[in-house]
Amino acid sequence: MIRVDYNVPLDEGRVTDPSRVTASLDSLKYILEAGGRPVILSHLGRPQAAVRPEMSLRVVVPLLEEGLGRPVRLLSLEEAESAASSEAESSESDEAVLLVENTRFLEGETRGDPDLARRFANLGDVFVNDAFGTLHRAHASVAGVAELMSPAVAGFLVERELRALSALRAEPESPFVVVFGGAKIGDKIALVDELLERSDRVLVGGAMANTFLRAMGHSMGDSLVEEDSVELARSYLSEGSALDLPTDLIVAPGPGRADEAIVVPVDSVPDGMAALDIGPETQESFSRRVLSARTLFWNGPMGLFESQPFAGGTIALARAAAEATRAGAFTVVGGGDSAAAVRQAGLDTAVSHVSTGGGAALEFLAQGTLPGLESLDEASA
Ligand code: 3PG
Repeated sequence: MIRVDYNVPLDEGRVTDPSRVTASLDSLKYILEAGGRPVILSHLGRPQAAVRPEMSLRVVVPLLEEGLGRPVRLLSLEEAESAASSEAESSESDEAVLLVENTRFLEGETRGDPDLARRFANLGDVFVNDAFGTLHRAHASVAGVAELMSPAVAGFLVERELRALSALRAEPESPFVVVFGGAKIGDKIALVDELLERSDRVLVGGAMANTFLRAMGHSMGDSLVEEDSVELARSYLSEGSALDLPTDLIVAPGPGRADEAIVVPVDSVPDGMAALDIGPETQESFSRRVLSARTLFWNGPMGLFESQPFAGGTIALARAAAEATRAGAFTVVGGGDSAAAVRQAGLDTAVSHVSTGGGAALEFLAQGTLPGLESLDEASA
């Protein structure tokens, strides 16, 4: 049984970046070549224990079939259970790989319910965790199942990721610059403190910066601000000068109204406008910092990069990261969106490592371990 992270970016039901699927193929092929039959588990999105057809894993089936050269059968947990217990299934010459439908459709997954973990564990003989992007979640299919199965090991993707990220933890060459962006603010903001300690400079852009700018007392109009995190952001601000925030922003009444976009200083976001990218002055100052880095970790886009008019900040940083790499820096870009952004800019091979995990990579960097690693027997397949 193999847990992967197929939480892929979607646009109108289409997978816009298949790299998390591609990144799982090494372990899956290894299992197949060794005569095993993979039963795959993954989540997609945050359906909150409800069956949401738009979050079905059906979208990854054609990608997997192409990558593995075999049919892939998408099953509900109940169907997978009867497949696992049916003798006919195990003895037949059926080559299909089994993919269990979105684990987060099931009640108990996100609270790590042991009964659900037991049901998952009964689906296979060996547990492989290759869901690097999800290792920071102590969910039933990630951590719970590993406690119940033996052997329980890490897959090749997890191994590759840990190698790259461990290099960032072990004596990173100075200046070590960390860039934070993106919208999963609540998850990440608690790690800023630890990363301020570990690095020489922390740059905050994207939606995450809005919460800091609000903490500085600025009115952010209709920008995405995580009110619950404003106090925490304020405490970081008082702590120090190693934190860089945007000085200007590109704002518009909404993502679909790019023709009304304007550049404003951070203290002048008009009512009814939302920050959708960092402004040109910030693009330049952040790029300069990135260019000066000998070690870089970047998680989260600088704006709504999926929409071309608001991709400028993210693309500028991707270019700076590529240039820093050419000049000898060790550069890691992590997270579904940031990875998609460097790929969109055609620069994914121009940085040292593109991580499939955002929150997971950050948490590993800050803490040196992850809940999904704790119960594994060893960190290699
Ligand atoms: C991710 O995309 O970061 C992982 O798949 C985890 O998703 P989550 O933040 O919804 O737990």
